[in-house]
Amino acid sequence: MGNAAGDHQHIDLHLGQLQNLNTTVFEFQAGGVVVEGFVYRDGDRLVAYLNRCAHVPYPLDFADGKFLSRDNKTFECQSHGARYNLWTGACVRGPCKDRKLISIPLVILNNNVVRLFTGGIDENRLPPAQDESQPVDDVDKVSGIR
Ligand code: FES
Repeated sequence: MGNAAGDHQHIDLHLGQLQNLNTTVFEFQAGGVVVEGFVYRDGDRLVAYLNRCAHVPYPLDFADGKFLSRDNKTFECQSHGARYNLWTGACVRGPCKDRKLISIPLVILNNNVVRLFTGGIDENRLPPAQDESQPVDDVDKVSGIR
């Protein structure tokens, strides 16, 4: 979605732009680079995250906007199958153990504007991704369930 309005501290989307029971991708500036986030909407309940896996810092999707697992109960990284709780971003399965997605705070304003507070995310100060050498066993397990 390229029409988000905003500055370096927040961006505004309209609730009507956000797919229900699905995710919507948006872009924003973080530490001088353009990064992606995504919003998940279930009615008036929303949550947003940086599009960055906690296993290796890749986007969760393959630029196809698909974030949900087949059962629609978790987000699933398409690289190695890490799964995350929809509402907390916590890793629930796969090679992201003990990690979580980086959340983006938001509020819904009176006029159905969804304000995403992206100013706290600096690409240069993000926590390091998990050691790639550690989760090989988990990756093998996950690949069996896809
Ligand atoms: S990069 Fe997401 S599971 Fe490995």
